[in-house]
Order: sequence, then C-alpha cells, then structure tokens
Amino acid sequence: MQVRLLSPIFPKKLNERRGEFIGTYKNYQGTKDYLPYQIGNQIGTSKLIRDIENKFVEVNRLYEFKEIIIPTLEFADIYERAGQAGSDMVQKEMFAVASDKNRLVLRPEGTAGVVRSYVQNKLYDAMSDELVKLYYMGSMFRKERPQAGRQREFRQLGAEVIGINDPYVDVEIIAMAKEFFSQIGLNNLRLEINSIGCSDCRTQYKEVLKKELGRVKGLCDLCVIRKDTNPLRVFDCKDDRCSELTKNLPVISQYLCGGCDGELSVVKKGLDMLSIPFVVNPTLVRGLDYYEKTVFEFVDDAIGAQSSVCGGGRYTSIIEEMGGPPNSGVGFAMGLERILIALSNQGKIATPEKEIDYFLVWTTEEAKCILMKVAQKLRARGYSVSMFFEPKKMKKQLKEANRKRANIAIIVGEEELSRNTIQVKDLKSSVQNEISLIDFMGR
Ligand code: HAM
Repeated sequence: MQVRLLSPIFPKKLNERRGEFIGTYKNYQGTKDYLPYQIGNQIGTSKLIRDIENKFVEVNRLYEFKEIIIPTLEFADIYERAGQAGSDMVQKEMFAVASDKNRLVLRPEGTAGVVRSYVQNKLYDAMSDELVKLYYMGSMFRKERPQAGRQREFRQLGAEVIGINDPYVDVEIIAMAKEFFSQIGLNNLRLEINSIGCSDCRTQYKEVLKKELGRVKGLCDLCVIRKDTNPLRVFDCKDDRCSELTKNLPVISQYLCGGCDGELSVVKKGLDMLSIPFVVNPTLVRGLDYYEKTVFEFVDDAIGAQSSVCGGGRYTSIIEEMGGPPNSGVGFAMGLERILIALSNQGKIATPEKEIDYFLVWTTEEAKCILMKVAQKLRARGYSVSMFFEPKKMKKQLKEANRKRANIAIIVGEEELSRNTIQVKDLKSSVQNEISLIDFMGR
C-alpha cells in the first residue's frame, strides 16, 4: 500500500477572481519564520538575529577564533560514531534525509561535523602548532516535541577549541561565552559547572549508580531504560518525581580520580581569577555522550523547562574515534531562540531601529526622476535611501519617512523644480534648508 504523506494545507477558500478553491500553507511545526518586522507577538526579527550573530563574530575575533562553515547534511554515522549512539538525540531525534545509497541526516548539532572536518582536512597539521579555534553558526535539526524554547529547526552559535587538554582552555572558552552574553545584555544567566570524570573514574561511578538505581522504585519509563544504558542521564530527567527519587543518590564528584578532581579545581580557580561567578552542580551531566571532564551550562530559569541557553564541555575520545589524533577539545553551543526568549523576558528586545538614512518625497513624475538620480548619488556615498514609486500625498510620504525613522527627508515639489533646488529636512530637529540641486549632486 502506498502511504500518502500530507502537507498541512489550511482549509481551502474560494478565490473568486480565479474561480477555484485554494489552500494556504503553514510552516512545519517547530520551525520559525524570522521576519524583517515585529509582527504580532513573535519574538525577534531577522535583523535582531543578524545583529546577535554579528556580535558573536566580533567576540570570537577577540579570542582569535576563525569561522568554519560545515554542511547541514552529514552521514548519520558521524553522530553515532562520535560516542553519541546512546543519546536521545541520536536514537530518536535525527531527521533522516531520503537517499538511494547513504544514510544521511540533517545535522542535529555542530560538534561532530566540526570534528569530522578537523580530521578530514587534517587541521591539526594545517592551522596551528597547538590549538585550532573554530566557531560556527547555523540551523540544527532535532525531531523533538516543540514547546517554548524547543524547536525542530533551531539556530546555534557554537565554538570549539581542539588541540590540548588544559583546563585553562575550558576557562577561556567559558569566559568567551560570558563576554558574548554580557555584550548582548544578558547578565542574569547562571553558570553551572561540573566534571563528569574521565572514562576510568566514570566507569567506576556508573557501576555504583546502576546498583543504587536498582533499588529505586517508581522512576519514569525513560529513566528505567536509562538506568541500564546511560545511568548518568537520570539526573537530566525533567520529571519532578524522578528528580525527587534521585536527589540523594551518590554524585560523580565523590568518585572523581585525582587527575579529574585536580582539573575541576583549576577550572574553578580560573573562573574565580577572571571574576566569573559560577555554581558547581554535581548533577549536571549534559545530554550528549561525548563529554569527559568539564561540563557547563548557562541557565535562565525564567525560560521554563528548556532553561539551558548554552551548553558545552570537554571531549577527548571522539576525535580519535573519528580517525583523528589523540587530541582533546572543548566547546559550547548556544541556542539563538533561547537567547531571544531570555532577552525578551528582560524587556531587552530592541525597539525598532532606524531603517533608512534618507526618505525622498516627490509630487510630480519629473520630481520623481530627479530624486531617483539623487538616490543613486546618495547610495554611492554609502547612505540607505527609500521612496514611494506610486504617487502619494506629501503628508503620507512624510509619515512614512517618520515610520522608517529616516534621519533626513529630501523633498522636491513644483516650486523646487522651478528653482532647480531640493528641500533637505532633518527629521529629528525639523530644520529644513533649501539647497541647489547642482551643489547637492556635486558634493
Ligand atoms: P546541546 O546542549 O545539545 O549541546 O545544545 C546546545 C544549546 O542549543 C542548548 O543549550 C540550547 O540553547 C540549544 N538547543 C538545543 N536543542 C534545542 C532545540 N530543540 N530548540 C532550541 N534550542 C535548542 C550541543 O549541541 C553541543 N554540540 C554543544 C557543544 C559544543 N559541546 C561541545 N562543543
């Protein structure tokens, strides 16, 4: 039997002009349009996203990170290989893309793709003796149930440092995330850190935890499975009952080996040294399986269940598992949608900004043509310029100039045409000067 896949076409309405019923389309659940204007109660505009991304680029420059642009489409294996086979993300949330021969998916996160590229392009030889510092921006895709702060297509801003295992590098990358948040005005995030140990101490801890969990009754269905497959993840469960049942279980910090404990102490010392406030959350384990040692999150409780605005940590074995040298990396990714929600909760979504430098106002076709030449000149000088093309009342044109928050309106009516002049009106001070068109064009 052939399965017919449905697109969500909205009830068809009669289009009288065409004499037929036509349906409208809606975007896929868990995806978003970012429009140039604030419409209804949507949070954020395309302009705000671009501004935030530009700020991220700028902060990365301060820390000498270079941009890497990786594909949106990757082989499923890279996420499975990168030590993540047991994570919810890989088991349940990847969007498979139909292909004759290959198992392809839309990337659910950036780290595995960056590591794949680092190994494939031998960046360890090409870029630096010591550290490869990369940042990336773009859409990620996870088939999760959409809710506030959780989408199926979402945008991440991420950074990775690959090369050495030095906890001061963890401190520096946390400092970079913190610097970025303060530059966009998000100063209320709580930084939580923890160490989930290396494979040695974590293996020992997992055994203890499994045994303890065996005695706990009443866990949710997912945690009953996790208890055996990935016991640390029970601490990540959002079910209140599970949180209550697991709150007195032993935590990893009691089992860290000397090396891991020492590295966590350096991270804490480094954060203190740079005056970056943090709390140690002994149950912070992160949802992806590739982490070792330091893990961290920047959290905003006001967002609700999806409170993690930025998550990251150190990874050691995945680079080798993906065919690379035994190098260690550390990185983070922040969710742009959650940044927007956090900014909006604090009333920090910017009020509409100036859209244009000059707005040109005309009354006759001859004036319109002169102003098209003026516009060309102004744009060549680097100014943004807008005008109506259909005839409109002067009052309506000036109203539009104000709506667009233009700095200056240039007005040409019949009198200006007869005198070969233009009126230059400063829209802030309302001061208006008539000047010679030849002078203006010649300037
Ligand atoms: P992650 O915790 O899965 O880590 O995602 C990082 C951030 O992406 C989250 O803190 C959240 O802000 C955002 N995010 C995740 N899923 C969604 C979603 N469904 N909707 C909206 N936002 C979401 C990683 O992706 C790792 N690759 C981070 C990393 C880089 N670790 C080391 N290097």
